[in-house]
Amino acid sequence: MLDKLNEIEKAALESLQLVQDQAALDAWRVSTLGRSSALMMVFAEFGKLSKEERPIIGAAANRVKVVLESVLAERAQAIKAASLAKSLAGEKLDVTLPGRTVRIGRLHPSTVQLRLVLDILAEMSFQVYTSREVETDEMNFQMLNFPPHHPAREMQDSFYVEAGERGDNPVLLRTHTSPGQIRAMRDASRAAMDPENLPSIRIVLPGMCFRYEQITARSEMQFNQVEGLAVGKGITFSDLKGTLINFARRMFGQNARTRFRADYFPFTEPSAEMDVECFVCGGKGCSVCKKSGWLEILGCGMVHPVVLQNGGYDPKRYSGFAFGMGPERQLMLRYKINDIRYFWGNDVRFLEQF
Ligand code: PHE
Repeated sequence: MLDKLNEIEKAALESLQLVQDQAALDAWRVSTLGRSSALMMVFAEFGKLSKEERPIIGAAANRVKVVLESVLAERAQAIKAASLAKSLAGEKLDVTLPGRTVRIGRLHPSTVQLRLVLDILAEMSFQVYTSREVETDEMNFQMLNFPPHHPAREMQDSFYVEAGERGDNPVLLRTHTSPGQIRAMRDASRAAMDPENLPSIRIVLPGMCFRYEQITARSEMQFNQVEGLAVGKGITFSDLKGTLINFARRMFGQNARTRFRADYFPFTEPSAEMDVECFVCGGKGCSVCKKSGWLEILGCGMVHPVVLQNGGYDPKRYSGFAFGMGPERQLMLRYKINDIRYFWGNDVRFLEQF
């Protein structure tokens, strides 16, 4: 019987070595100390023993029971500690890890440049006037002195939205911001308190324009323009030059040199292009200015008498100047961007750089 007890103890201690978690430990407790375990059978059959055997076997059986109970408690403790350590390690918050970056959006480079242009012109007291992107042929061309079939229309191939029954006046996407000149003049002349004394106008007109063109590195079918218009009494070409030279200095630096070249637009007379000295090479000639030393930045001129008339301003009493420029083109020059398609390509690698 003593041998049997020793075997029970030895087998129980051995099988405990394999116990790694609480469930296995519970099973071990049932099989070694549970009611039908071999050890408990020894206690159950106690009565069958002789008087002499009882104290000896009793003491031995009790000793085995105490030993097994104490190793059970020890192992229970160890398993609990291990599982706590494991969950601490698994759920640990490492405050030294780098945080997740929040992607912050920003303004599109065209918007930034547009606002810069408007800011400078606002300081020169030009107010923003917004006009529609979908226009009639009448506003986009005819009122601006491009009669139907006029060859100057060739410069501005158009997206027609609706032609149908509209004859010579189809609906189209504006090809330039200039139709806003007519709308602004009509707004001002019609709202005038005294028709004999029309208010003077100083506006900037920003917005998207559309041309039906082959898309290439140099031309897109959509782009922004900023139109400027000043109308009043006694406005001369020197006002135009003074305003635009001042603008160029604020935009490109106080030492920016400029020049005007004669040009043609149906809605201005005389008309000109303004160039600034190439700020990439300082006028020496480089690839950006195509070796000329000058960069063309805008078209301008004195508002044509027919256009003043169409806007409700009598050309005998009022005069004015107008100009139109492209913010994307200015950005291309400033940052040496060689492909205009980047602007609407929506590639963040491009947009992130601004
Ligand atoms: N509307 C002209 C263009 O798109 C630019 C311009 C505006 C020229 C105003 C003169 C005066 O090319």
